[in-house]
Amino acid sequence: MIGRLNHIAIAVPELEAARALYARLFGAQVSAPQDLPGHGVRVAFVELPNARIELMEPFGEGSPLKGFLERNPAGGVHHLCYEVADIKAARDRLLREGARLLGDGEPKPGAHGKPVLFLLPKDFCGTLIELEEAP
Ligand code: CO
Repeated sequence: MIGRLNHIAIAVPELEAARALYARLFGAQVSAPQDLPGHGVRVAFVELPNARIELMEPFGEGSPLKGFLERNPAGGVHHLCYEVADIKAARDRLLREGARLLGDGEPKPGAHGKPVLFLLPKDFCGTLIELEEAP
């Protein structure tokens, strides 16, 4: 069921500073910032040959990143995103096995316009996992 690593997300206090850091120090290709109000984040993607890095800063009131950045003021690794071929089939299998989802369990469009879901970190070795449906 589990597919490729799509991205690793890093929460940052200042997206522009993080974009500049990756572009200047690593010479990386970094996408333009993108607001995701439904997820409470603004993101930009660093393109690597085998995956992407999602840089995220809080967007709007009640962003889920606010508490994370209070505990990690310099930023930190926030989640991993794995690709799955069929997100509803993956969700149903995980629920049958007793895993828990964040939110209402309905896939929502993520940064790439594909449906995504998040899994409860307690059930996955303390790691927040995003599943993204990939073609
Ligand atoms: Co993500």
